Amino acid sequence: MLTLQNITIKFGGLTAVNEVTAAIETGVIFGLIGPNGAGKTTLFNIISGVYAPTSGTVLFNDQNITGLPPYKINALGISRTYQNINLFSKMSVLENVMVGCHTQSDSGIFASVLRTKAQQIEENTIKRKSIEILEFMNLADKVNYTASNLSYGEQRRLEIARALASAPKMLLLDEPAAGMNGREKEELSETIRKINAKGITILLVEHDMKLVMNVTHQICVLNYGKKIAFGDPEQIQKDENVIAAYLGGGIDV
Ligand SMILES: Nc1ncnc2c1ncn2[C@@H]1O[C@H](COP(=O)(O)OP(=O)(O)O)[C@@H](O)[C@H]1O
Ligand SMILES: [Mg+2]
Repeated sequence: MLTLQNITIKFGGLTAVNEVTAAIETGVIFGLIGPNGAGKTTLFNIISGVYAPTSGTVLFNDQNITGLPPYKINALGISRTYQNINLFSKMSVLENVMVGCHTQSDSGIFASVLRTKAQQIEENTIKRKSIEILEFMNLADKVNYTASNLSYGEQRRLEIARALASAPKMLLLDEPAAGMNGREKEELSETIRKINAKGITILLVEHDMKLVMNVTHQICVLNYGKKIAFGDPEQIQKDENVIAAYLGGGIDV
């Protein structure tokens, strides 16, 4: 589904991602791990169109999407969440998800203020769809809350809900468990599996190794921008390069 071919990006003298090649098959939950500063978020930014790589090619279902703007990549079926929560904090929970739906609508977010009959019907469809997604993400009782009034874990779930609103084929999750307690993390694992069961391919960046090892099918490990290992969770936990990269202490599962 997604092919990364020799992706490199340089920021001044720093090579944040260095000749990374990887293939993510349709239907998998694919983990992307590595120590802080390894280049994980930067790779997400390249896949989602925030940055164009210095060199290399990104193919999505055989289409070259390298350097396309984020809205086009989103329209093709790649959606993401952010390492730092990136919601419209003063808008309601429902509105946050409805904004995510607008990439799918014909009239678009600006035309919708004109409120023709057709647009009103479309708006109602979007509202219904958004509520369905919020039910799926276990936020149905919070639809009218202001986003900033949600708990941290709920805000992370709302980010995922908004990302799902554009009906993606592939979902990129950047540290979705950050700041979550144990119970929230277990729920998140279930949610990730539930999303995957809907046929959505998932690319997961996460520091919580227990979660990563439990939920992913395949894992790619980055260190200083380079791919140092690829395999299933069992292989990765035994991999010497990976153990060395994690300060010799191994991965604490
Ligand atoms: N826009 C940028 N300008 C300069 N350096 C950047 C930029 N974005 C990321 N970096 C650097 O690239 C490296 C990789 O960062 P990042 O992808 O955020 O790592 P990770 O998500 O794996 O912790 C870091 O050294 C970071 O400081
Ligand atoms: Mg990061």
